Amino acid sequence: MKTLIRNARCVLPSGTEKTDILVDGELIVHVGAPDGTRADEVVDASGLVLIPGVIDDQVHFREPGAIHKEDLHTGSLACAKGGITSFLEMPNTNPETVTQERLIEKLELATAKCAVNYGFYIGATAENIDELKNAERTPGIKIFVGSSTGNLLVDDQEILDRIFAETDLTICAHCEDESTICANRAALGERLEIADHTRIRDHQAAIIATRRIVELAQVHQHRFHVLHVSTAEEVNFLRGDHAGLITAEVCPHHLYFTTDDYARHGSRIQMNPSVKGIKDVEALWEGLIDETIQVVATDHAPHTIEEKQMPYPDSPSGVPAVENSLALMLDAVHRGRVELEQVVQRMCFAPARVWDIMNKGRIEEGYDADLVLIDPELKQTVLDEHQVTKSGWSPWHGMELTGWPVRTWVMGRTVFANGKLDAAVRGREVVFDHERGGYWGVQL
Ligand code: DOR
Repeated sequence: MKTLIRNARCVLPSGTEKTDILVDGELIVHVGAPDGTRADEVVDASGLVLIPGVIDDQVHFREPGAIHKEDLHTGSLACAKGGITSFLEMPNTNPETVTQERLIEKLELATAKCAVNYGFYIGATAENIDELKNAERTPGIKIFVGSSTGNLLVDDQEILDRIFAETDLTICAHCEDESTICANRAALGERLEIADHTRIRDHQAAIIATRRIVELAQVHQHRFHVLHVSTAEEVNFLRGDHAGLITAEVCPHHLYFTTDDYARHGSRIQMNPSVKGIKDVEALWEGLIDETIQVVATDHAPHTIEEKQMPYPDSPSGVPAVENSLALMLDAVHRGRVELEQVVQRMCFAPARVWDIMNKGRIEEGYDADLVLIDPELKQTVLDEHQVTKSGWSPWHGMELTGWPVRTWVMGRTVFANGKLDAAVRGREVVFDHERGGYWGVQL
């Protein structure tokens, strides 16, 4: 099957230009004026923008273990709708992904069920260092340095030190300091309200843990990716030349919500790390633009609305986001907050580079045909009732966004077009070339 996409403004590694793209089977085979090849389908994309498929390096899809919230099929369909063509999923499922055997079980489930491409992290525990050393077919190691949903937690300095000293894969971590969280919680007593979530998981919890783990990474010269940065303190600490050793991620919810929004949204904006203040939001945008933060990802963490409506602190932490993250960033482009090319850099090129993903994240001849067509002028309102995620709601419910994905190809096959998903399409296992070392210093 050959598809010719004509007249789109294409975001290429060299810049944005109006050109044509020929896809043959699973690959992009030609970029530029048509070379005379007859295509089976010609897509006139005048007025639209073509970007590489988004790579979301942090999602939680709940399979196995909590598939009433989400499963690999529904989560991946929500990705396809949102323009995400590859996801990397976190290990806090049940059972947890903490051995090679569990990783392979998840990969097999995903092969049968996923509408987009998939990869799975291996989670660190106090006992599984040999598994971490020998893990294969995984982007890297996830450490929960602070507790969150599930039971994964490693905050013992000696064990953390061993993980950084003895393993080779890139490490990413949930950085919130567990003892600070516990002390804050104890100081507040038993009668808690939702706004206490940020008092418990406060600025100190975030910066203490981020500093601590970055220092370990520096001591051991081990590639480290800080997940969901949420404070100005972390942005200021991370700013500067880390010679490619340290990279960082921000999530749309930390760019869009502040503690003032608890009054309106309640536990719909309860997540870990918590939302912070407006100064933090401004610092995160600055960090994103000056490339202190290299990656935008969702931390998609679905819980049912009934679970979320339980009184705090019984309400679980986490928000679904994969079907809106690209639109949220395109809306920011529309408002002049960030440039389109920066969005593509942070959501497509950079995650591929950070995680050594082969053949993805760029519109270039020979690369996988994971592509997203965007209508930059399309206005749509996010509505709970339109969400594909099994959790069935969005923290952005009621918000009108300008700029939406209108068609998504995964390995050359259309999985989303004209508002409809093709549930029969299947993605592929993402392949990692760890020999490249995830080194950030190389030109993207
Ligand atoms: O809010 C969160 N929810 N943060 C996490 O780190 C985990 C996630 C989940 O799995 O629910």
